Amino acid sequence: MKKVGITGTGISIPKNILTNKDLEKMVDTSDEWITTRSGIKERHIIEKGQYTSILATEASRKALNSAKLKPEDLDLLIVATITPDMRFPSTACFVQREIKANKAICFDISAACAGFIYALVCAEQFIKTGFVKNALIIGAETLTTITDWQDRGTCVLFGDGAGACVLKEVDSGGVLSSYLGGDGSLSDLLYMPGGGSKFPASKETVEKRMHFIKMEGNEVFKLAVRLMVDSANKALEKCNLKCSDIDWLIPHQANIRILKAVAKRLELSEDKIFFNIAKYGNMSAASTAVALCEAVESGKFKKDDIVVLDAFGGGLVWGATVIKW
Ligand code: COA
Repeated sequence: MKKVGITGTGISIPKNILTNKDLEKMVDTSDEWITTRSGIKERHIIEKGQYTSILATEASRKALNSAKLKPEDLDLLIVATITPDMRFPSTACFVQREIKANKAICFDISAACAGFIYALVCAEQFIKTGFVKNALIIGAETLTTITDWQDRGTCVLFGDGAGACVLKEVDSGGVLSSYLGGDGSLSDLLYMPGGGSKFPASKETVEKRMHFIKMEGNEVFKLAVRLMVDSANKALEKCNLKCSDIDWLIPHQANIRILKAVAKRLELSEDKIFFNIAKYGNMSAASTAVALCEAVESGKFKKDDIVVLDAFGGGLVWGATVIKW
């Protein structure tokens, strides 16, 4: 079987910053509460006129550039997002049009905060089987477009951004194993009720604030710790590695307390975890993508390092991927 690796990365973060101090003026909260409960200090939010495919396109161009790959040589383009530009066509089609990847198969994946790992596993299968050669996966979100700015329990957590990776066959290293899971019976813990076929947009759905993220924070917190630990263990087991073999854990950045609890249970020293939550908050599918791209671009990984991506999100869905760098 072919080995699939990451050969290029790119990030797009909107310039606009919303700090905890700014949020103090919007809802009954404090910088101290947000920092101690979540680890978030600020988040970037889109400006008027920006939307998901704009961020995804910028991240894609940078990733192609760093992989030295021409857009016309791309065979597959997957966008992981829960904040697409439109219900259809897919955001992947808009990105394809912008970057002129005319040959690429395009589709979106909806797996919330685990979306980037789902996209990676999906693209890996396409390459491994020889169906495509070059793939681009993008985690891109404008979560602030579905954030309820009157709900202090959620609005302090989310931000916007995008991260993209080029995947192709490599001679050494690459993806060693992955594990994915889901449990739809937990869907009412984290969801957005309005705007789909069940509750199409109407005056009533808008008035009832149904077009915003709803979350049972406490329940999600406990499950997140358990599922991230379980995902990492299962993915490592599949390639005969142990937690002590991890050089870098690149987790979905939902809450610093979740990440610290995961580290403790995996018996992993915190300096092996990549944290950027303080700057960006939770960017759903873009979180793991941006964290991975930032870690690569800041030169954190050495050849042969064992890097584990680990995420969970609304669905609930979860997963982990082990990569030899
Ligand atoms: N500012 C100040 N107080 C707030 C607040 C805010 N922004 N949000 C909630 N509170 C209050 C609550 O009303 C509650 O008050 P009460 O005790 O008087 O009822 C108190 O703070 C504690 O709330 P609680 O929800 O128990 O806090 P918590 O420690 O669980 O932290 C989250 C809340 C949301 C930060 C935390 O549950 C979390 O991160 N959950 C996981 C979320 C997540 O990862 N989601 C994405 C999944 S991909």
